[in-house]
Amino acid sequence: MKTELFKEISRIREFQKKFLNQNVLATEEELRLLSDIIRYHEYKYYVENDPQISDFEYDQLYKLLQRTEQSNPNWIKPDSPTQRISSDLINSLESVEHLSPMLSLDNTYSEEDLLEFDKRIKKLCSIPEAENIEYLVEPKFDGGSIAVVFENNQLIRAATRGDGLKGEEMTLNARTIRSLPLSADFSSSGIVKAELRGEALIRKDFFEEINKARETEGLPLLANPRNAATGVLRVKDPVETSARKLDLFIFQLGYAIDKNGLDKIVEYKTQSNCIDLLQTLGFKVPSVEKKVCKNIQEAFNFIKSWAEKRDHYAYELDGMVIKLNDLALQEICGYTSHHPRWAVAYKFQAKQATSKLLNVEFQVGKVGSITPVAKIEVVQLAGVNVSSISLHNEDFIRSKDIWLGDTILVERAGDVIPYIVKSFPEQRPKNARRIEFPRNCPSCNSVLRREEDNAVWLCHNSHCPAQQIQKLIHHVSKDAMDIDGLGPALIERFFELGLIKDMSDIYQLDYSRISQLEGMGEKSAEKLKISVDKAKKNPIHRLLHGLCIHHLGKKISKLIAEQLDFIPNLQNWTLENFTRIKDVGPVVGENIIEFFSDRENIKMIERMEEYGVNLHQTEEDIPKQVSLNSIFSGKTILFTGTLTQMGRKEAEKLAEKNGAKVLSAVSGALNVLVVGEDAGSKLAKAEKLGTVQILNEKEFLTLINRA
Ligand code: IVH
Repeated sequence: MKTELFKEISRIREFQKKFLNQNVLATEEELRLLSDIIRYHEYKYYVENDPQISDFEYDQLYKLLQRTEQSNPNWIKPDSPTQRISSDLINSLESVEHLSPMLSLDNTYSEEDLLEFDKRIKKLCSIPEAENIEYLVEPKFDGGSIAVVFENNQLIRAATRGDGLKGEEMTLNARTIRSLPLSADFSSSGIVKAELRGEALIRKDFFEEINKARETEGLPLLANPRNAATGVLRVKDPVETSARKLDLFIFQLGYAIDKNGLDKIVEYKTQSNCIDLLQTLGFKVPSVEKKVCKNIQEAFNFIKSWAEKRDHYAYELDGMVIKLNDLALQEICGYTSHHPRWAVAYKFQAKQATSKLLNVEFQVGKVGSITPVAKIEVVQLAGVNVSSISLHNEDFIRSKDIWLGDTILVERAGDVIPYIVKSFPEQRPKNARRIEFPRNCPSCNSVLRREEDNAVWLCHNSHCPAQQIQKLIHHVSKDAMDIDGLGPALIERFFELGLIKDMSDIYQLDYSRISQLEGMGEKSAEKLKISVDKAKKNPIHRLLHGLCIHHLGKKISKLIAEQLDFIPNLQNWTLENFTRIKDVGPVVGENIIEFFSDRENIKMIERMEEYGVNLHQTEEDIPKQVSLNSIFSGKTILFTGTLTQMGRKEAEKLAEKNGAKVLSAVSGALNVLVVGEDAGSKLAKAEKLGTVQILNEKEFLTLINRA
């Protein structure tokens, strides 16, 4: 396609002007050129993403072609741009045999797997391990696989993959794919018949548009771009396929023969030469997306670079494909019954998966809020097994129309906690049940209450055992009193044994009894005592946070501790004392006042003091003045992705030491984003804002002189 036509580009321009200006019909000779011009612009637009004329100009050319053909139907050629979509024909969807089997790929998930693959190939080809062999690496497109057959330069058939040997014929649907040429100049390369494999895809942004439109029309949403693409490959009516605006990436020349029926592929010597040929013929192939790598290490580096940028790529990818570049070596390696031995897929970690909702448990939080937690069939997402996901509250369940027994779509992206994207009501089994929200606390049975404008049901019984346990767990947690070795399981055990009834008991534990508990011993008891004694000296902001007062988080605790000499003094604070502090609001102020007006709570704090817990402001409660010339002074910062040199908390502390204020989300207020490995939506959002300075971990460390 490119060859002939593109040489004549100056002639095209001349004619194009003429065609754009005239209202009359084209002559038969002009019609051929007009079709070529339209094909050229379709190629530039759909294959190369590089439009040369406006949509309006394109429409004018297209309409002239349509008018001319309507007046002279016998001039119509099957590969005319008007012949992509036929509203009066439907697909047969008959089973057809592929010219050569469409195999699948073996999967790998790690660098080690790839090194193994490389070793295996060298062994099969009798190549010494130390030698380099070339690989072609390209994206693994996540759509629907199809095979297209060209004979005498014309697209004659398209079929879905099916079982690999036979697929369903869907030529009319494939013809609607604008990046698939209806004719291509194979004969100039001596090829009479060829079968090409590729993946039909939908752009991510167009997928969003489709779903927005479906939402407005009240239609069920499509789960992901992959389903949106595969869902229309096997429909009878090509009008439906056409509306999805599919693209087709061709990644394999599966079969090619000359006029004597002899194989032509072998002449091209390498996989990359085959792809170059297909690109010259006008097909959409991985171009900037692929790389010929001189060895497996280079291949792995290229894969890693794609793992980082795939979120910003226009199409959904589920991995990369590594193919031995040399065709002769490919033949030596051969095939198993499922896949070629010369190629392998490297799968990116899954971000979305479907699962089944098995059960819902209702958990009581430390301030009495009831959280429904979904127990689901285990799925692997981004390398982690997920079996339990928060359903937040009753409104969330109703708005997502989630039922027990439903198939659900679960997502876990980057550092985001897993969540349920949607349910599939259309797949709901007959025995599915609505999720009944309890009216009584699952722990203490007291009646739950819900304020009108609040989605959360609350247990108001301050003696509720489940609440007590959660409070204790929070009290000793890392962010609060940070008592090492006293985890949730021990807290529950001590609570059940009556060793701990409230927070103060933690500081007066019966260590000799503890040392006799099964699985404990003297050493563990001694260790625990050391941790507890250490916590007694904590700065008061930790204790404030550990009291479990609703909305009193770590940050506000620090702000209050800055202004507070002695914790019991809070009994005398008025609402104004609180709200005078910047960032402290009336709601948390009221909650603190309520806590300190309860005699029981005061007594508990007095007991803590008696057992040696510090209630006085310490040096650590007063913030150090950050020097104004610190590298990040006055700047806001956020970390995303996995850091390799240090933990997230440590990095945040380091940034704070250097004057930065750590934010928890990307917003207009963010100045610096530090990006670790596998960064997700936060990076995309920051890039979109365009105002955020983006640093990788090394750059961050260099700036603060820690590299
Ligand atoms: S090569 C013999 N290359 O992945 C070669 N496949 O799991 C076999 N796919 O059915 C396929 N992108 O639908 C190949 N760049 C790519 C691909 C790719 C996506 C799909 C294809 C195939 C499946 C194999």
